[in-house]
Amino acid sequence: MSRQKRVIMAVIIFGSFIYIVLTQAVHILGGAPGEPVHPEIRKFCSSASRKNVNIEYEDSNLPVIYVVTPTYRRPEMVAELTRLGQTLTMVKRIHWIVAEDSHTCSPPITSLLDRLGLSYTHLASPMPEVYRREKYVPRGVSNRRAALQWVQENGEDTGVLYFLDDDNAIDIRLFNEMRLTQTVSMWPVGLIGEYTVSSPVVKGNQVVGFYDGWPAGRKFQVDMAGFAVNIGYLKKQKKVTMPYIAGHEEDGFLKSLNLNLKDIEVKADGCTNILVWHTRTAKNPSRTLRLAHHQATNIKPLTDNMRKMGMIK
Ligand code: UGA
Ligand code: MN
Repeated sequence: MSRQKRVIMAVIIFGSFIYIVLTQAVHILGGAPGEPVHPEIRKFCSSASRKNVNIEYEDSNLPVIYVVTPTYRRPEMVAELTRLGQTLTMVKRIHWIVAEDSHTCSPPITSLLDRLGLSYTHLASPMPEVYRREKYVPRGVSNRRAALQWVQENGEDTGVLYFLDDDNAIDIRLFNEMRLTQTVSMWPVGLIGEYTVSSPVVKGNQVVGFYDGWPAGRKFQVDMAGFAVNIGYLKKQKKVTMPYIAGHEEDGFLKSLNLNLKDIEVKADGCTNILVWHTRTAKNPSRTLRLAHHQATNIKPLTDNMRKMGMIK
């Protein structure tokens, strides 16, 4: 073997060795950016599969919409979920997945889900501590990931997945728009960022880009409430994930679906209408009350109930 060939062989062998060491290191250290290093904690609390009791006739051929709502304990939680949940009672074939950022499921949410008369799943999955300490916290990711796993294991292939945060307001006509999604469908979301909207840019009924005040190098510049995914399509993808990277959850998730802009289905009258808003709710401090003079009045049981709802300490 000539000297030149020996050098080439050595380079190939050394190169392969380095490659193996690096890929193993990446694997051991947690893989791609935003992928968790340690196993995530997931708790399944309860589920109901039933006809929506609020609707007279439900066509069982209609694809189910799996609405995933991440939430966390704070004074507004019960109010937000009551408002959203009661909106959902008006919609056919909804399965609401409420995923708490917590080790356990909150009792007032369990009774709300029971009362609403919808199909539902109640889960809990706390954000790993390592992310809570970051400067920009990836909010609602651990719980959305737990819901995603549930949908991948239990969702009907004809169904549709939709992420709807608990601080959003929605027009129920959006559910008609998204219900027949074949791959991924998109529409504008109101009250987002610099432009007061985040929307796909559409030409000839095709998505050609995004109109969003915070491009941040994202391929898919969309809000969490701005798209829905067909579950059969989701299940066909090799590695579906949502990264623990604040601001890049939607982009990371959509990239993991191997989606091309040309495959996106355009909804809401060619992305000209707003049917969902990121309203956001003003935050209230969690107060401790003085009740010494009210042990014998209604104020005592009233505040006991407020405490059960997580409105006060
Ligand atoms: C915005 C987007 O609306 C989110 O979809 C996106 O995940 C987030 O930016 C991000 O880029 O990290 P934002 O309005 O800033 O979210 O945050 P919140 O509305 O407070 O949280 C998003 C969702 O996660 C809500 O449903 C909220 O209840 C839930 N959340 C928030 C948790 O589960 N845990 C938390 O500690 C905080
Ligand atoms: Mn929000």
